[in-house]
This record gives sequence, structure tokens and C-alpha cells, in this order.
Amino acid sequence: IAGNWKMNKTCQQTRQYFEEMLPGIDCEGRDVVICPTYLSLKDAVEATAKTNVKIGAQNMHYEESGAFTGEVSAEMLKEAGVQFVIIGHSERRTYYAETNESVNKKVKKALLSELTPIVCVGENLDQRQKGETFDFVREQIEKSLEGINDERLVVAYEPIWAIGTGVTATSEQAEEVCEFIRGVLGEKCKENSEKIRILYGGSVNASNIKELMSCKDIDGVLVGGASLKSDFVKIVNYE
Ligand code: 13P
Repeated sequence: IAGNWKMNKTCQQTRQYFEEMLPGIDCEGRDVVICPTYLSLKDAVEATAKTNVKIGAQNMHYEESGAFTGEVSAEMLKEAGVQFVIIGHSERRTYYAETNESVNKKVKKALLSELTPIVCVGENLDQRQKGETFDFVREQIEKSLEGINDERLVVAYEPIWAIGTGVTATSEQAEEVCEFIRGVLGEKCKENSEKIRILYGGSVNASNIKELMSCKDIDGVLVGGASLKSDFVKIVNYE
């Protein structure tokens, strides 16, 4: 169960969040990851040091170092104590020209650096209405994961029309695409496809978590808005 804070919370707010939330979070049998902004990573790592909550970044560059103004490398994330990294979120694809090709380079670099990549895919409303969801998601997976076969991969299916809109995909819609993704991974990654974790993301909240998690091919969730609030404790502790 992963929380993506996007561009929210200062360092001070990050420390306060963990002070308030950590006592309530029960990680027993669940992997919990929080992805704050780069600046808050160190505070988040420190705050969660004695717990099972892990920290992830929201992006990284694929090069070691060099003239890439404004970017952060895998080595820098590792040094800060980060264990996960979200790659190819739809907001990065839409607003910052992230492509399947750059996602592919980042995923390779993350794995080499022993960071667990959470690779995001998902169609927009227009594509869904035109019946292009499966073709589009297949292309995203094939290109983003070209040359990669690794059981550490995490793939997040986040239909763009369900992100931040309050419109959650029904569990049937979410499962249908996650099952399809498992099949595409099976063609690509053979036996690893059963070990690769597939997450659903898009307006996940404390009321729909249980039903989503009951789906066969949904192994976890990537939570945006609701991960900023006390709701996240309820989501993590869902029964
Ligand atoms: P919301 O949960 O706010 O819809 O965001 C989902 C998301 O983009 C997580 O990466």
C-alpha cells in the first residue's frame, strides 16, 4: 500500500504527519510505502527508521550525474535511505514529457541501483471511451519494460480518468485491466509475472479499499489524495 504525496507537505508538515500517523499504522503482513517530495525524503526516512514503513521518491533521473539541472540521481536517493521510486506517473508523462523510452531507462537504472520501481501505466478517458485501453496499456508495458524481467518490479495501473477525480474505477474495471497486465507480464517476464506486484491507483479511499484488494490481480494500491490525511491509516489497516 503506497501513498504518493505529489507536491504536498513541507518538511515540517512531513514530520508532523508521521508523528500523528505512525502510532496508528499496523504494517503486520503489509508493505507500506510513503512517497513524499525530494526535500522531505530525509525527514520521512528519519521519522520511519524504527518502523516497517518504507520511503519512496516520486521520480529520478537515469544518468549517474552531470549537467541535468533540477534532477536527482538514484545514488542520491539511495544515500537518503530511499527504497522505492515511482516512475512514469501520468502527471509526469502529461506535464513533463515523460515517455515510455525515458521510463524504460529509469526503471533499468532503478533496478541496477537496488531501488524498487513502481512503474505507472493507464489510459485517459478518451482512450477508454474509444475502446483503446488494452492496446494502449499493452504498448506502455511493452515499451516501458523493454529488456526488463525482474520480480522486484511493481506496476501501478492508474486510469487517468480516475486520478484525483473522486471517480474510482469499479473493482471489475480495475481487475479487468490488472488481469490483462498480468497476462502481458506473463508473455514478457514468464514466471516472474506471478511475483510482480500490480497496484491499482485512482481515487482509492477508506471505503473502496477492501473491495479493490479482494480482486485477484490487485496486490496493492497507490493512493494520492487520501494518503495525505488520516484516511491513510484506515486504508493501511483495512480489514
Ligand atoms: P488520487 O488517489 O488522488 O486519485 O491519486 C492517485 C494517484 O495519482 C496516485 O499516484
